[in-house]
Amino acid sequence: MFQRYTRLSDASLNHPRLCALVCCGGNLMAASWHTPLSREPFRYGIAVRAQNDTHHLLSTIGHCSLNFLDISEYETIDYTGSVHARDECKSEACGLVAPTCDANANPVFASALSAFGCRVRDILEMGDHTLFVCDVAEIFVNENTALMPTLFMGHGRYATLGEERLIVPRG
Ligand SMILES: Cc1cc2nc3c(=O)[nH]c(=O)nc-3n(C[C@H](O)[C@H](O)[C@H](O)COP(=O)(O)O)c2cc1C
Repeated sequence: MFQRYTRLSDASLNHPRLCALVCCGGNLMAASWHTPLSREPFRYGIAVRAQNDTHHLLSTIGHCSLNFLDISEYETIDYTGSVHARDECKSEACGLVAPTCDANANPVFASALSAFGCRVRDILEMGDHTLFVCDVAEIFVNENTALMPTLFMGHGRYATLGEERLIVPRG
């Protein structure tokens, strides 16, 4: 029923991961390895590989915004996850509209369902990724409820929500 693997690189995972754009120092990087860590205070973790320019930017600048973009931006997300800041100015190429920004002047994009203003508080070596533990000082929630999350399925495959199931209140 299941294929068994011992290395992640051998297993093609079939579950979706939510896409985000890490916006740091004017650069944009696609990320799907990120997670909430604490509600109060609100802390969020972003795992970044050392060879990515975002690793150096986050380490030196110490703050970023994290934008959770609508599915219509899947090609933009994929582009920011395919080239490095050292080779191209991705933010210029993408042309995303940022009607506002966080307290550190990092962009909050119009096509984001939500976005966080993050300040790095801890940098933890995990292996081939580094976990940037961030304090989330600002949470932006888009009033446009028609936006749909972008889910990364691996190997250039993107999806969004298809069906919603609601829990009937107990008692
Ligand atoms: C959908 C998607 C998700 C990704 N998630 C991550 C991630 O969570 N962490 C990471 O270090 N790289 C991730 N990558 C790869 C980086 O985005 C990619 O290496 C990028 O070119 C790095 O850009 P930079 O050098 O400008 O920082 C992802 C790529 C894609 C397409």
